[in-house]
Amino acid sequence: MYVGIIGCGMMGKIHSKAYKELKGINVKAVASLSEQQSKECAEIASAKIASIDEILKDEEIKIVSICTPTDTHKDLVIEAAKNRKHVFCEKPIALSIEDAEEMVKVCKENDVLLGVNHVVRFFEAYSKAKSLLEGGVIGKAVMARMYRGGVFPNHGWNNWFNELDKSGGVLVDLSIHDFDFLRTIFGEVESVTARTIKKTPSHPGENRDHALAIIRFKNGSLAHVEGSWAEPENAPSKFRTSFEFVGTEGMITYDSDEDFTMRIQTISEVHLAFSNTTPLGTDPYKHHIEQFIKAVEKKHEVPVDGNEAIEALKISLAANKSAETGKPVKLTEVL
Ligand SMILES: NC(=O)c1ccc[n+]([C@@H]2O[C@H](COP(=O)([O-])OP(=O)(O)OC[C@H]3O[C@@H](n4cnc5c(N)ncnc54)[C@H](O)[C@@H]3O)[C@@H](O)[C@H]2O)c1
Repeated sequence: MYVGIIGCGMMGKIHSKAYKELKGINVKAVASLSEQQSKECAEIASAKIASIDEILKDEEIKIVSICTPTDTHKDLVIEAAKNRKHVFCEKPIALSIEDAEEMVKVCKENDVLLGVNHVVRFFEAYSKAKSLLEGGVIGKAVMARMYRGGVFPNHGWNNWFNELDKSGGVLVDLSIHDFDFLRTIFGEVESVTARTIKKTPSHPGENRDHALAIIRFKNGSLAHVEGSWAEPENAPSKFRTSFEFVGTEGMITYDSDEDFTMRIQTISEVHLAFSNTTPLGTDPYKHHIEQFIKAVEKKHEVPVDGNEAIEALKISLAANKSAETGKPVKLTEVL
């Protein structure tokens, strides 16, 4: 199976490494706007450097990874689909629901699969928490608190993360991971109330750098999601995540900065309380890409498809709208 990668920055390198480690997969070519980054990816993946057009016209290439800034996803995914490539696109799928729906439609019309890299579902701590919750370890889960953040992502090509119309800010680019994960636990969202701060001391830009969103789910559960690009440059860890799920019989907590990263406390007589470390066993990116390839090979269901990515994006856009208006926003108001 031959693959092409478009975009060779941080995620292009991660995709290159993941494909390289998978048996039977060859990255044939990579493309980006940076000669240096293309060289780095080509080296990691043992691929050649090509133009986007060469990748899309190459009949041997079956899958194309899109690892470019978010505002470019729509055009690249649509072009790839029209050239009959299955597409594995980085999250967020796009910056508007209209664009995302068009992407899904064109992929369907051209009979190609679209996967979106909502990779948090594949991180061991998160997938483990999900299976514990499904196993009823803490009874019925009713509330959650999530944190995801670190220093501002200065690595972006031409500093694209700093432009709201390219990245969507922290709620669209970063907290979307938690929004997507929470949907897999609590189901569909009713409304979102959010606040954001711009011009934080560590990053005096115009973007939405620190955010808090309160999510009310249709099943009555409540989640508190905090996202940050505002931690100081000298913060002890450049990036950390945590979660806390509270249920009728106990709680599960996780903090990537702790030695004992996961704690389960429960009154259940069946399930014992425990703490343990959750070392990163398998590379979650490789794991997700592998599942996507299986879907392409066997025409299976895609692990996270375009429609699921649209639902996660709706939550992010509702949060941005709430931050702008100061009012709760129902998901049905996001078009
Ligand atoms: N899944 C995750 O965990 C995760 C983590 C970080 C970023 N992302 C997402 O991945 C995407 C890329 O982020 P990144 O941090 O790798 O960005 P980056 O700035 O590090 O890399 C972007 C790359 O795209 C290239 N590029 C820019 N415009 C292009 C165009 N029009 N055509 C071809 N190449 C182009 C640049 O030359 C660069 O090589 C974004 O959508 C981002 O939100 C996902």
